Amino acid sequence: MLQVIPSEAAVGADIDGVDLAQPMTAEAFGTIHRAWMQHLVLRFRDQALTDNQLMAFSRNFGALDRNPRHAKTEHRQIDDSIDYVNVISNVVENGRAIGGLGHYEAKWHSDMSYNPLPPMASALYALEVPPAGGDTSFANMYTAYETLPEATRDRIAGLGCVHDSSLNSVGQLRVGFEAVVDPRKTPGAVHPLVRTHPVSGRPCLFLGRRRNAFIPGLELAESEELLDMLWAHATAPDHTWTQQWRVGDLVLWDNRAALHRRDDFDGAERRVMHRTQIVGDRPF
Ligand code: SIN
Repeated sequence: MLQVIPSEAAVGADIDGVDLAQPMTAEAFGTIHRAWMQHLVLRFRDQALTDNQLMAFSRNFGALDRNPRHAKTEHRQIDDSIDYVNVISNVVENGRAIGGLGHYEAKWHSDMSYNPLPPMASALYALEVPPAGGDTSFANMYTAYETLPEATRDRIAGLGCVHDSSLNSVGQLRVGFEAVVDPRKTPGAVHPLVRTHPVSGRPCLFLGRRRNAFIPGLELAESEELLDMLWAHATAPDHTWTQQWRVGDLVLWDNRAALHRRDDFDGAERRVMHRTQIVGDRPF
């Protein structure tokens, strides 16, 4: 029996009673999709998925998006067979990192928001987790927007923001990029600071990533001040919920209306996660 159990926070719910390795009925998908739209982040515990099953589950929501460009420090062999399953791991085998992000803290971000069409969703599946650390937190960008003072909502209406494509969420430079020294020259897509969610029709903040962000049309100092204020507000505990991973957890998030970050963990421990991204549309 499929059950939706909301977290007591501003975001997140557990979905019980579904085996994601099996094809999904239209009825089950409808329930899950409604819960997802309401809670933004869904956790499915005790799953046992191959990469093909992870991809099949993700395709219920839309076409898969390609993996992000890897960091210069990674030495993965990138080929077509792993185009759609992004390995996030600190494990090094035969001198090669098997995945990205290492054991470092990943700062608040929305996945691949530096692309003109950022993914609508990501699904992260835990294969190996460390005994402590590596928790992933999520922040609700609807409530972040709705709780801004009216004067701030008026001030940011119509403003855009550059979403940096040069660094990944742990601050490593991606292949093909130079370090940004002036945020006014940051490479990456410009998206509205406030976007309309294409399903709910509700406005939410769309912040992407703080590092190297810039609001075109403002002086640099003004842009920095406004962004610092928005980020501090949006990531305050009132808007957040934290996932403590168990092996077999799959967490699906709405990348349009939720930010996420990850705690660091002991680099001597193993953490292996597989992530899919689902194609989204142009933020408006
Ligand atoms: C991510 O930013 O998608 C990775 C989060 C995590 O490793 O928990």
